[in-house]
Amino acid sequence: METNESYKRLLDGNRKYALSKKFDDPDYFKKMAISQTPEYLWIGCSDSRVPANEVTGTQAGEMFVHRNIANLVVHTDLNLLSVLEYAVEILHVKQIIVCGHYGCGGVRAAMSNDTFGFVDNWLRNIKEVYNKHHQELEAIIDTDKRADRLTELNVIEQVRNLAKTKIIQKAWQNRTLQVHGWVYGMDNGFIKELNTLYDEAEDLEPIYRYKL
Ligand code: CO
Repeated sequence: METNESYKRLLDGNRKYALSKKFDDPDYFKKMAISQTPEYLWIGCSDSRVPANEVTGTQAGEMFVHRNIANLVVHTDLNLLSVLEYAVEILHVKQIIVCGHYGCGGVRAAMSNDTFGFVDNWLRNIKEVYNKHHQELEAIIDTDKRADRLTELNVIEQVRNLAKTKIIQKAWQNRTLQVHGWVYGMDNGFIKELNTLYDEAEDLEPIYRYKL
């Protein structure tokens, strides 16, 4: 079998990584293997340019991560719900961050009337966000700026979707748990913190609050 160079690069990179970690701290992997106690859950976009640990200056073991196209929190997504429940109830994370990013292809696709395949069904969730805010969005003439604003509104909506879950509301009864909305700027590397902190059921309209 012919070895593809771009594939081989990964395993070479791994060898260098393992050796250099061990060189810096001979017990590094021994400690890592024992357990994980991350304080953060990151829900971000699958985009290869937004690596959760790298953009926050965190290390392995510090952040539990879930990524999907356009960082959506969909209430029928068993994958996300499993990650969320595990992060909140077993790992006891203290902060949850939904991080979108400017220049998100998923958001741009959702803004268009083009079809892209199976992902159309997934991105329809963003069309709902668009439709909810269409007056504000359509007042923005510049397409890039409109996409930027939809990116922010989408993150805010996903933060709200998290707050609507029983998992989060149950945690709020017993302890502090903050849900934040961020947008990462791919053109400058800086994160914009959106004004959308949710940390109690009262942050949601009454219809969404469970009797627990
Ligand atoms: Co994206």
